[in-house]
Amino acid sequence: MKPSGLRPFWLCALSLLTYLATAGRICSLVAPRAKPIFRPTAVSRVFYRAANILSSLTETTQWPSGSTAPELASDEVHVWAASLCVTPAALEALDATLSPDEKERAGKFKFEKHRNRFIAGRGALREILGEYLKLNPAALCFSYSTNGKPALAGEFASAAIHFNLAHSEDMALVAVTRVGVIGVDVECIRPVKEMDELVARFFSARETVLFQRLHPDEKAAAFFNLWTRKEALLKATGEGITRSLSLVEVSFLPGKPARLLAIAGDASKAAEWAVCELSPATGFVGAVAIKAENLTVQCGRWDHLAGQ
Ligand SMILES: CC(C)(COP(=O)(O)OP(=O)(O)OC[C@H]1O[C@@H](n2cnc3c(N)ncnc32)[C@H](O)[C@@H]1OP(=O)(O)O)[C@@H](O)C(=O)NCCC(=O)NCCS
Repeated sequence: MKPSGLRPFWLCALSLLTYLATAGRICSLVAPRAKPIFRPTAVSRVFYRAANILSSLTETTQWPSGSTAPELASDEVHVWAASLCVTPAALEALDATLSPDEKERAGKFKFEKHRNRFIAGRGALREILGEYLKLNPAALCFSYSTNGKPALAGEFASAAIHFNLAHSEDMALVAVTRVGVIGVDVECIRPVKEMDELVARFFSARETVLFQRLHPDEKAAAFFNLWTRKEALLKATGEGITRSLSLVEVSFLPGKPARLLAIAGDASKAAEWAVCELSPATGFVGAVAIKAENLTVQCGRWDHLAGQ
């Protein structure tokens, strides 16, 4: 889409997205421990379990770390948090696993920090999928939907593994499942200027009323609950956030369970989906969404295999 063709509404939407992508304080993920390549750790199989009805993960939860993929049961979702701040040796090794088109994308970033995060994110995605599929990360091929959602392509498509990637600051989340299409989002919780106005403009009337009643201290957490839950759903469908943010209604009050309430005003459509809140590190909030009645999520912290 060319900027000249944008209407003011889309310009506002783009500014909001740009702001959310760049503003705010930097929150760092706990750096992964150095590990020899492909050495499994005992804790890598110890995962926390959470249900969409009662998310047992809290901001203080430390996800256990590992670098081997456990069995992925047919009804499970695994979510890995990976640091995008890696050693130069790890970055070089992750870069070596990228495809020519990914390297070309990496080359287009103006700032080294953003380029390195992209390489580390794609590299982590390849490492994690490679572990589940027992394949060399560099051998994986991706295809892209019209709105840019990546999926396993060619001979790997038959593996029936669905995945999604999200990143914020130095944190990436990779969600993997066999259940079906999946979406994940993560955001660093930070102050956002004119939050009430943004909620009124981009979210539903019901959400706007509830949001405006919140105590000012609760608003940042509530805003990012709203944002991540909606975005996770819109990434699961592959549509993305450019059109339908206000059509996806979610629960968002701090401390209350994550739930999808309606899609385009239809509660029965929302009931076909499950959403779960994620708390990968202090100061970050995330959500994962999947087309299923129930959602069993296991979370871990990915120790990069490459270059450590
Ligand atoms: C997908 C989208 C929601 C991502 O938002 P974001 O907050 O900037 O980024 P996140 O960190 O949550 O996720 C980015 C990752 O999601 C994945 N992704 C990209 N497009 C996606 C889509 N349509 N659906 C699901 N996942 C998508 C990619 O893996 C991407 O990471 P990468 O670029 O490093 O590979 C946003 O870019 C969007 O709405 N895109 C749709 C654009 C569109 O409609 N294009 C049509 C042609 S104009």
